[in-house]
Amino acid sequence: MTRTAPLTTDDLSAGAPVHTPAASGEWWRDAVIYQVYPRSFADGNGDGIGDLPGVTAKLDHLRQLGVDAVWLSPFYRSPQKDAGYDVADYRDIDPLFGTLEDFDEMLAGAHERGLKIIVDLVPNHSSDQHVWFQEALAAAPGSDARERYMFREGRGPAGDEPPNNWQSIFGGPAWTRLAPRADDGPLGPQWYLHLFDSSQPDLNWENPEVRAEFEDVLRFWLDRGVDGFRVDVAHGMVKAPGLPDWDGHVSMVEGTVEDGHEQVSDPSDPEDGSTGAGHAGPMFDQDGVHEIYRSWHRVLAEYPGDRCLVAEAWVEPLSRLARYVRPDEMHQAFNFSFLTAPWDAAKLRTVVDVSLDTMDAVSAPTTWVLSNHDVVRHASRFGLAEIGGRQLNGIAATDPQPDAELGLRRARAATLLMLALPGSAYLYQGEELGLPDHTALPAEVRQDPSFFRTDGAEPGRDGCRVPLPWVGGAPGNGFGPTGKTWLPQPGVYADLAADRQYGVKGSTYEMYRTALELRRSEQLGAGALAWVDALSDSPDVVAFRVAGVVVVSNLGAAPLTLPAEAEVLVASGDLDTSSGAVALPSDMTVWLHA
Ligand code: GLC
Ligand code: CA
Repeated sequence: MTRTAPLTTDDLSAGAPVHTPAASGEWWRDAVIYQVYPRSFADGNGDGIGDLPGVTAKLDHLRQLGVDAVWLSPFYRSPQKDAGYDVADYRDIDPLFGTLEDFDEMLAGAHERGLKIIVDLVPNHSSDQHVWFQEALAAAPGSDARERYMFREGRGPAGDEPPNNWQSIFGGPAWTRLAPRADDGPLGPQWYLHLFDSSQPDLNWENPEVRAEFEDVLRFWLDRGVDGFRVDVAHGMVKAPGLPDWDGHVSMVEGTVEDGHEQVSDPSDPEDGSTGAGHAGPMFDQDGVHEIYRSWHRVLAEYPGDRCLVAEAWVEPLSRLARYVRPDEMHQAFNFSFLTAPWDAAKLRTVVDVSLDTMDAVSAPTTWVLSNHDVVRHASRFGLAEIGGRQLNGIAATDPQPDAELGLRRARAATLLMLALPGSAYLYQGEELGLPDHTALPAEVRQDPSFFRTDGAEPGRDGCRVPLPWVGGAPGNGFGPTGKTWLPQPGVYADLAADRQYGVKGSTYEMYRTALELRRSEQLGAGALAWVDALSDSPDVVAFRVAGVVVVSNLGAAPLTLPAEAEVLVASGDLDTSSGAVALPSDMTVWLHA
């Protein structure tokens, strides 16, 4: 029912908790983790590309914001064909980003400030510039060097058809054929598998040498002092035996069969894996991956200080995701069901319920995330009313443009809802400034391989990767000392720059800071969650109690009058006091003591 009568304190009483936090107190169970995308965070040397000294220089921003940890997207040696998710040397820093000394300095600076550091591990594929792949190209078919990757003979009498029909997630075939050489067999040159760009050959995880190498890479970074790893494409790596044909198509961000936006999972049905024919396909979510994570768990356990593994696994439903965080595997997995949920009260309640339930069942913390470097930022997504704010794949200049004001308003409300939820929350750099995507990037500046491999049919992810504005109105809005930025910033970034928001009441930055401070002092991350009974089937309101705080989000059109006695702790925008009482306007969230 739609609610118009003023709320009373009684209305806000909660039912039985649907989730009680785990007793063990590892830091990552309720941590707020901030994603740094190094090339776009801050530029130290003025070449227009962010770098590690840039990160070090901005650590105080992160400490003052109040996050617990930082996850950095890849900074390893790489030809940067997929912005560093194509690693040529897993034990070195790309000169673009600095040196190992710069890394050590950044790590020490973070630790001094009480911030943990999580690095990105990319084990499904390497760069074609990795020494292993170069060796494989130089070696004969059937050699040990080729066994580290997925080389196969082609089909057809001349072997000139790909070994199977798999498609690359970035578009086009998932196989590339080598140039002919004298020792090729009767079927001619071999093909190699690449689930992503042709410059990202998939490694062969059936090969013990590959497994040993990655355990060693883990140790290399653990010995340097990192606190954990975000594991890229954690649902990949092991492929179904025989690499059978599959007619599905996996899209970049959903990890489900793509057939328009309807294919975003329906979190209201936890058992619904059927978003298409065999949603995972033979390249994803194979049972064999779990043995890898068990062995990595054992490696991390040898080190002091609760090091953690975080899965980037686009698998559905959530019950499949929970398998990655069973007690002897990884520690956390990104909750993409929450990220893809539309701005809809019933759907949000369901995804929260199901998420807590499925992760509680394996004693893992639930995670919450709204934005990252692969999806349209939530301040833009929620401004796309016509498709319910669910577009993920990038917005092109020729697409319908988001309503910026509505988007930011809903983004702030969604963030405040998220930051009250128990478990661990992930923030993407710049969301604390309320940044939208650049939604009108000209094709000439785009760099995402998915744009090129689909001939522009997918705009790609550049729009959410635009360099951050630190000083409004300065050249490049203070991204670096020269004003250069590797992607152009949209005009609104000047007004949204960090320095224009520090200390400014009502700014998005101050809302995040206040919420993070309260989240800590009220111990929300480790709190029990109970739904506010009187509103638990409201089409317009999401309301719950965590620890001692009542959270109310108004997704309806009419303002919601709050109980007179309630104490407002933080709100996602200005409350409406025009009628004498305090009312929560449409598309806003408030935290109360009530
Ligand atoms: C993950 C990363 C994405 C990258 C892909 C291939 O999905 O988040 O940015 O392109 O893996 O490594
Ligand atoms: Ca730089």
